[in-house]
Amino acid sequence: MFEGKHIVVGITGGIAAYKAAELVSQLRQRGADVHCIMTEHAAQLVSPITFGELSGNDVTVNMFANISHWDVQHIALARLADLFVIAPATANIIGKAACGIADDMLSTTLMATKAPVLFVPAMNTNMYENPIVQRNIRTLREAGYTVMEPESGHLACNTSGKGRFPKTEAILSEIEKALFGQHLLRGKKVIVSAGGTKENIDPVRYIGNRSSGKMGYAIARAAAMEDADVTLVSCTEELPVPEGVRVRYVQNAREMKQAMDALFDACDVAVMAAAVSDYRTKNESPRKIKKEDHDALTIQLELNPDILYGLGQKKQHQFLVGFAAETNDVIEHGKEKLERKNLDMLVANDVSQAGAGFNVSTNIASLLYRDHTMEQFPIMTKEELGRVIIRKIAERL
Ligand code: C5P
Repeated sequence: MFEGKHIVVGITGGIAAYKAAELVSQLRQRGADVHCIMTEHAAQLVSPITFGELSGNDVTVNMFANISHWDVQHIALARLADLFVIAPATANIIGKAACGIADDMLSTTLMATKAPVLFVPAMNTNMYENPIVQRNIRTLREAGYTVMEPESGHLACNTSGKGRFPKTEAILSEIEKALFGQHLLRGKKVIVSAGGTKENIDPVRYIGNRSSGKMGYAIARAAAMEDADVTLVSCTEELPVPEGVRVRYVQNAREMKQAMDALFDACDVAVMAAAVSDYRTKNESPRKIKKEDHDALTIQLELNPDILYGLGQKKQHQFLVGFAAETNDVIEHGKEKLERKNLDMLVANDVSQAGAGFNVSTNIASLLYRDHTMEQFPIMTKEELGRVIIRKIAERL
């Protein structure tokens, strides 16, 4: 994920310094070239040897020690960095950076870099809420730095409140956004449906389908990476919810319709990636059906509402995207569906091909547009296709 990226991690002297070890390890495992700079206080809390081992590179603490090559080291790292992460960021480094103080290796390198900078504050709640710290955070944001919000919960000082170091996954997601995001959907509201609906037969059985939800989740994640305000309407609880994405769980087509209809008016983009059951049971049994009572069983089905069609009917400014999973004449069926459902884009795939469709992590898709143009894509992961779809939507908004 981070192959070829040089990430400088600045570790300052908060108790959460030990949590930065996991972050550094994860960055390296994901292919990044990680260089750690520790403040003197951080080096009192966790040995630089730990960060050296985990990053695979020399750790710099002191400006005037360990000069391993004759490049001016703070300038060399400042230049090398594709991204600078300060984790944990104490009130002290936030204050120094906001005031332009460069009095040690970390603050000096930070001053010298042109790379994007991500601060991950972690401190006692009272310190975090101190108006001077808050003013400094505002100053950093105004200057173009990204400052994450700390989490709330138990703190090292044995109190509870805002100031906890965020989970590694949340920081990794911010890092990905800082490295690859282009703010393509800033200020846009995106809703995405995902997974396969489940229509109850009785309290223990349902009619479902093979959809895993992976495609919809990948689209939601890609939209969040581009700064959209994203809500997932999901039929599956199996997949991890992407960072920064809101989720509403639903079970069947009618619940999904209700959720999508409620969110549609205020959204800018709606993507129906869910596999919605065309039919539901006509008479859902309130009790478990017993085989002793039936030699043969007939279940009557009735038609579900077509959610996407309904959205197409009431569409105003929204950009509406549908999916078509077909086994033959994919493009022809796709074109027809795009027209009939009043869509702006249709993602068509031939689910009979190996590597496409349900319950696999890759897909082979063609994107059809309202203006009758079309783009065909080779096999790629659903994560990659999610990013392609979001980029294409952003181009057309
Ligand atoms: O007509 P068909 O089911 O092939 O269309 C697929 C598209 O319509 C998908 O985007 C799917 O999410 C959506 N759909 C829907 N409501 C249904 C059936 C499908 O919104 N009842």
